[in-house]
Amino acid sequence: MNKEDIGFAIVGIVLGLVIGFYFANLTQSSVNATQQAANSATPSTSVNSGAGTPPLPANHPAIDGKPMPAGPLPSDATTGGAPNPAAGDIAELPSLEPLPAGSKEKRAEQEYKNIQLLKGIPAERLMKVMFAFKSSLNVDCDFCHIKDAFEKDDKPMKLVARKMIKRMNEINSDGAGGRVTCYTCHRGQKTPAQ
Ligand code: HEC
Ligand code: HEC
Repeated sequence: MNKEDIGFAIVGIVLGLVIGFYFANLTQSSVNATQQAANSATPSTSVNSGAGTPPLPANHPAIDGKPMPAGPLPSDATTGGAPNPAAGDIAELPSLEPLPAGSKEKRAEQEYKNIQLLKGIPAERLMKVMFAFKSSLNVDCDFCHIKDAFEKDDKPMKLVARKMIKRMNEINSDGAGGRVTCYTCHRGQKTPAQ
């Protein structure tokens, strides 16, 4: 082995290292690139990930990042639970079933002053019942009530209404099944059509 051969060997080793380093880097960066592509293609649960999201179900509105207009609220929310005849609600009478004995929920007679028949129903339901009376007979509250003194029994129609509640409860508890409400007979009239 002469000096020249050793020189070539050293140059060869250095060149080999440089070229090896260069190629190692090349393949490494291409591995990185494929990994990145794979990451972005992985479906994500986020609704904000644009590409790579699984297809939306049929009829689903497009998710294009623009705010979506909300649909109309159920009439129950817009009228505070009152039936909204303009929206086509019928005079749906809520259940008059009393709360179970152990219930801690506030009862109508705890919130109001003169509840004789609707005892035990949740307090928050009383107004819904009143609105059902109102629209079942197509009258205003003052058909049965003195304005601002709802607890008073001065109006004869309030007393008739109590008799009606009794009659209705009797019909509904005769075991025949089905449920009769004010609207079943009244159909939006003070006096039902005979
Ligand atoms: C068809 C008659 C009738 C109509 C219409 C009616 N109510 Fe009543 N309301 C009654 C009766 C009967 C009671 C008592 C129920 C009982 O004794 O269990 C009552 C009780 C009440 C009470 C409880 C008062 C208290 O402190 O004891 C309030 C408040 C009330 N009604 C509000 C209304 C409002 C508001 C309307 C209109 C949306 C309305 N009512 C429509 C018959 C009616
Ligand atoms: C089974 C049928 C029936 C049901 C259910 C019924 N009503 Fe009646 N209601 C009548 C009839 C029939 C009349 C008219 C004759 C009478 O007074 O009995 C009447 C009359 C009335 C009157 C008197 C109207 C007036 O101008 O003299 C009021 C008030 C009344 N009902 C309220 C109610 C309320 C509130 C309910 C629901 C809790 C109800 N009714 C459920 C059949 C019914």
